[in-house]
Amino acid sequence: MKILLLGGGGREHALAWKIAQSKKVEKLYIAPGNAGTGSVGENVAIGVNEFDKLKDFAVKNEIDIVVVGPEDPLVKGVYDEFKNDPRTKDIPVIGPSKQGAVLEGSKDFAKAFMERHNIPTAKYHTFDGTTLEEGLKFLETLKAPYVLKADGLAAGKGVLILPTLEEAKKEFKDMLGGMFGNASAKVVIEEYLSGIECSVFVLTDGKHYQILPEAKDYKRIGEHDTGLNTGGMGSVTPVPFATKEWMKKVEERIIKPTVNGLAEENIDYKGFIFFGLINVEGEPMVIEYNCRMGDPETESVMLRLKSDIVDLFEGVANGNLDKYTVEFDERAAVCVMLVSGGYPEEYVKGYPISGIDQVEGSIVFHSGTAVKEGQVVTNGGRVIAVSSYGKDKEEALQKSFQEAQKIEFKDKYFRKDIGQDL
Ligand code: AMP
Ligand code: GLY
Repeated sequence: MKILLLGGGGREHALAWKIAQSKKVEKLYIAPGNAGTGSVGENVAIGVNEFDKLKDFAVKNEIDIVVVGPEDPLVKGVYDEFKNDPRTKDIPVIGPSKQGAVLEGSKDFAKAFMERHNIPTAKYHTFDGTTLEEGLKFLETLKAPYVLKADGLAAGKGVLILPTLEEAKKEFKDMLGGMFGNASAKVVIEEYLSGIECSVFVLTDGKHYQILPEAKDYKRIGEHDTGLNTGGMGSVTPVPFATKEWMKKVEERIIKPTVNGLAEENIDYKGFIFFGLINVEGEPMVIEYNCRMGDPETESVMLRLKSDIVDLFEGVANGNLDKYTVEFDERAAVCVMLVSGGYPEEYVKGYPISGIDQVEGSIVFHSGTAVKEGQVVTNGGRVIAVSSYGKDKEEALQKSFQEAQKIEFKDKYFRKDIGQDL
């Protein structure tokens, strides 16, 4: 089987690593990939949003399955592009249709969807330029802190949590005034929920679903969850509070109504659903949906997925995912992200990276790297994920922290408290 994977981050390196382990795979291409994905497959110099080039490539290279890593091409309709072209209509694309990706692409849509299907989430209202005054009044009815969300995709920066009513009112007006461009033309104001977060993933064929290992990620740049939000500084699986009993609640109250709701609303969805959950006094509630796997969750979750992921993709493609079982590795798995100094603000790219070949017993996933004149160099804020197994998370973390020391690049930084709060 020939597989084309779209994307070029740590999530895609982890997916590529897992896909390449399948005996069914004869050839794996990654577009555009990075310095790491080239070691498990063949990188192709096509961007994730270059749909015409991707389709031409898929036809020419007789691709059997396309797997989409990031949200951007999904929200822009890569699934529909393949489906609506007679040349590519029979190539299964693992990822939702444009309409399905709206679960991530519009917070307002996601909230209304949850309301329609009785899925537990924070109370909310959505406002736009014509209802600004109502929005300010609604804020007055809430308690601090205040949660404001740009409706559209804002590169992970569209959620503001504000300690005072004054700040909330000011930021609300700024958001509607174009702080995030068109993404904040509509703003969701919602009730603040207090609890610990957990990411739950399923793969669905639109009718059936399979639950993958859950994970917790660490979003803030500083230790003990301080400082600015990042794309994610590390992840841990399993999550101790995600017990069988808790996961049963998640399945009954959240996963089933979501998958059934998509089907009822005739939304074509064949791919991953990422449930960003929060545990509020033992009860799971949805913070957000994403239409893809998480990053850096994938860099630990793939270690715990024992089943052949290509089998599962075939189940998605054929609509018989219920015929498969998903086996989890009993061990714990973690990922520690090495980032560029200055990230998530200004940082320098192009520093040489050394020591990757010294790493033993951990798995190195490239996140933001490139090859320049034969040398692997930094090429992003998040640079390398060091993933490890352990009999428990402590052992796995110790391993990742130890191996992380061996990889060197100028101004390298990583959080040394990943997993310590669990
Ligand atoms: P989102 O992009 O919706 O995942 O929001 C980003 C982050 O903001 C989440 O991971 C949470 O940490 C936080 N957040 C979002 N909504 C809420 C809420 N209603 N209550 C508390 N924290 C929230
Ligand atoms: N780790 C969170 C995300 O992928 O959105």
